[in-house]
Amino acid sequence: MFYEKERIDLFMESQIRDIKLAPLGKAKLDWVKNHMPVLNTIRQRFIKDKPFLGKRVVVCLHLEAKTGYLAQAIQDGGAEVAVAASNPLSTQDDVVAALVSEGITAFAWHGATDEEYFAHLDALAAFNPNLIIDDGGDFVALLHKKYPEKLAKVVGGCEETTTGVIRLRSLEREGVLKIPMVAVNDALSKYLFDNRYGTGQSVWDGIMRTTNLVVAGKTVVVIGYGWCGKGVALRAKGLGANVIVCEINPIKATEALMDGFRVMPLIEAASLGDFFITVTGNKNVIRKEHLEAIKDKAVLANAGHFDVEISKPDLREMAVSVKRVKPNIEEYVFSDGRKVFLLAEGRLVNLAAGDGHPAEIMDMTFALQALSLEFLAKNDKLEPKVYNVSQEIDEEVAKLKLASLGIKIDCLTEEQKAYLAAWNI
Ligand code: ADE
Repeated sequence: MFYEKERIDLFMESQIRDIKLAPLGKAKLDWVKNHMPVLNTIRQRFIKDKPFLGKRVVVCLHLEAKTGYLAQAIQDGGAEVAVAASNPLSTQDDVVAALVSEGITAFAWHGATDEEYFAHLDALAAFNPNLIIDDGGDFVALLHKKYPEKLAKVVGGCEETTTGVIRLRSLEREGVLKIPMVAVNDALSKYLFDNRYGTGQSVWDGIMRTTNLVVAGKTVVVIGYGWCGKGVALRAKGLGANVIVCEINPIKATEALMDGFRVMPLIEAASLGDFFITVTGNKNVIRKEHLEAIKDKAVLANAGHFDVEISKPDLREMAVSVKRVKPNIEEYVFSDGRKVFLLAEGRLVNLAAGDGHPAEIMDMTFALQALSLEFLAKNDKLEPKVYNVSQEIDEEVAKLKLASLGIKIDCLTEEQKAYLAAWNI
C-alpha cells in the first residue's frame, strides 16, 4: 500500500492501494478532461501564469476522476500537491494511482477504516499545506484541533460543501477560525448547478445502478428540500415517481408544495415510501420511530455529507438479521418480518455507490475552486474569516461555461444601463 515516488524532492511517501491501477485511472482522467472545458481553459492559463509556484496545496475531496483533474490543474499551476479523501468510500483507487504516477502525493484508499481515514488526514497535515481545498470540513477542523501550529503557514482554503460551510461559520462565530476560507459552496454558479442538477442526477444514478429497480410508479420520499433535495425530487418526478417531500422549514415546505409535491411529516410518509432519500445535513433523520412504521422492502439512501442521517445504531438495534445482499446493499430484517435495504452503508449514495456528479457539472464547481484558490494565492494577507466567492469569479465561470457551449446571450444597451441606475424615471 505504500508507494515511493521516484523524485529527488521526495519527502513523503504516498499511501495508496496499488500503483499498478494507474492506467485504468488515467483512462478515467482522460474521459473527464473531454467534458470539462471550463477547467481546461483555466488550466491552460495556469500552465502559463504558474499562480501556485512554491506553494503546497492539499486537496481533501472525494477522490474520483473530476477531482483528480482539478488536482492536476493545480499542479500545472506550479504547486506541490497532496490529496486525501473526504469520505472513505468515495475514493477510486485507480484514479489515486494515476495521480501518484504523475507526481501527486496521495494518502487514500477505498474502504479505509475510520482510523485509516484520520491517519490519512494526519499525513495530509504533515505535508505542511499553504493552501487547502476541503469538502465537509474534516481537514480544516483537524488542523484547528490537533495541529494549530501548522495554521500559521496556511494562506487560506476553499470549502466545497454545505456541511463544511456550516462548520466554518460555527468556527468563525466562536472566534476560533484562524485562516481565511472561501465558501465555494455558496457561489451561485455552484449550488444552482452542482447541488441541484448534480445531486439530482448522481443520486438517482447511484440508486439505480446499485438496486436495478424501477422508479416509475413508485413513491419516493425526499427528506430535506434544500438545493440538493430539490434536485433529487425533481429528477424523481422526471423518472415517473410519486414524490413526497418532508421538510422542517415552513418556507421550503411551501416551495415543495407549489413545485407539485406532497408534503407531510416523515412519520406519515414512512408507511408510504418505496425509496427514502435523506438530504438534510442533520443527524438521526430516519430513526427508530420511523423504522417502526416503515414499509416492507423500503430502500434507504443518504445524499447528505455524513453517514449519520439514517440512524445505523437504530437499524442494528431493531434488526434480527443483517446481511449484504449485493454490493452496496445491506438487508436489515425486523422481528415482524419486514425488511429494509440500506445503500452504501448510509454514506453519500452518489459517490459511495456511483461516480459523483456529472463531469460537465463538476467542471463549473472545480473551475470555481481553481479560481478561488488563485484568489487566495494572490491575496495572502486576508483576515481569518469566511469569504464569499466574488461576483466577478462567479459570473466568469458561468460565462466560460456558456462560451464552451457556443451559447451567446444578450447585453444591456447603454440606455437600459442608465435606466436601471436611475431613480427618477
Ligand atoms: N466529485 C467530487 N467531489 C464531489 C462532490 N462534492 N459531490 C459530487 N461529486 C463529486
